[in-house]
Amino acid sequence: MIGRLNHVAIAVPDLEVATGLYRDTLGAVVSEAVTLDEHGVTVVFVDLPNTRVELLEPLGEASPIAGFLARNPMGGIHHMCFEVADLAAACDHLQQRGARVLGDKKTGAHGNPVVFLHPKDFTGTLIELEEVGEGTQ
Ligand code: CO
Repeated sequence: MIGRLNHVAIAVPDLEVATGLYRDTLGAVVSEAVTLDEHGVTVVFVDLPNTRVELLEPLGEASPIAGFLARNPMGGIHHMCFEVADLAAACDHLQQRGARVLGDKKTGAHGNPVVFLHPKDFTGTLIELEEVGEGTQ
């Protein structure tokens, strides 16, 4: 059911510092910072040949990653995102097997529908599923 690894998201306390590490120390291609009000984060996309890393910095008081950073002040891996062809069918499949789908389907950082799966159902890892139409990335 799951396809390609779309991205790994890393919560960071300081986006400028993290961007510099990926751009200057690791020599990766990084985007400009993008503010995603709906998601409560500011994101920098790190483009790799086979996937992406997303550096997430909290935006606003109610940021969904604020609690994670309070527990992990240096930052850390927040979630992994896998691609699926049909998000509704994937959610049905998962719920039939007892996995918890968190919240409602919403539009993710790349404009595609996404959902999150409860980390307690997946060995402590928060998983995002993103519906990616055929022929797009
Ligand atoms: Co994500």
